[in-house]
Amino acid sequence: MIIDCAGGTGDMARRFAKMARRAQERRGGPDAVINIIDYNAEMIAAGIEKGGEPEITWTVGDAQRLPLPDAYADAYVISFGIRNVTDIDAALREARRVLKPGGRFICLEFSRPVTEALAKAYDAYSFKVIPQVGEWVAKDREAYQYLVESIRRFPDQRTFATMMENAGFKRVTISNFTGGVAAMHQGWAL
Ligand SMILES: C[S@@+](CC[C@H](N)C(=O)[O-])C[C@H]1O[C@@H](n2cnc3c(N)ncnc32)[C@H](O)[C@@H]1O
Repeated sequence: MIIDCAGGTGDMARRFAKMARRAQERRGGPDAVINIIDYNAEMIAAGIEKGGEPEITWTVGDAQRLPLPDAYADAYVISFGIRNVTDIDAALREARRVLKPGGRFICLEFSRPVTEALAKAYDAYSFKVIPQVGEWVAKDREAYQYLVESIRRFPDQRTFATMMENAGFKRVTISNFTGGVAAMHQGWAL
């Protein structure tokens, strides 16, 4: 059982489903189940409309109060979702609660550039270019301004790792992508 929390319309979950099916074909074992959870019922409906893989199930639910029992899942994934959650500590505690012993937590999120030069260039791009492009292309400057500001408010790599540890995750690791523009945090429910 894999939980794709804040899974939106299921783009990541479809990839997981294909990967899980290939692994199952190679190694055998039980079929994977990927449970997409998102608090926005319209996103879930749009995802179902798009069509899914047979491994995917859909649930409307809040990351801060998951409608799931304790020790339920083998893995919990959240990609570009936790930044939007009001109480990130509560979401982390819930992720830890629903993972089985030995379960894995994976979070992919925008983060902080790790060099001064990249941070300056990224700042200029984020605050000057992204809102302007949002206005031209999507006619919605505010949404893109919110995106930039929410990325800025989200804790840096080390702070988020400490929040994971405080929620009970062990062996927390950080992998930076594009110099820290995005980062993947992993931890284990041991
Ligand atoms: C940027 S989308 C990411 C979707 C998907 N994970 C992906 O990578 O394509 C963020 C999603 O987080 C969901 N979300 C925000 N706060 C949430 C919460 N408290 N509980 C569950 N989902 C939430 C939104 O409804 C939205 O679908």
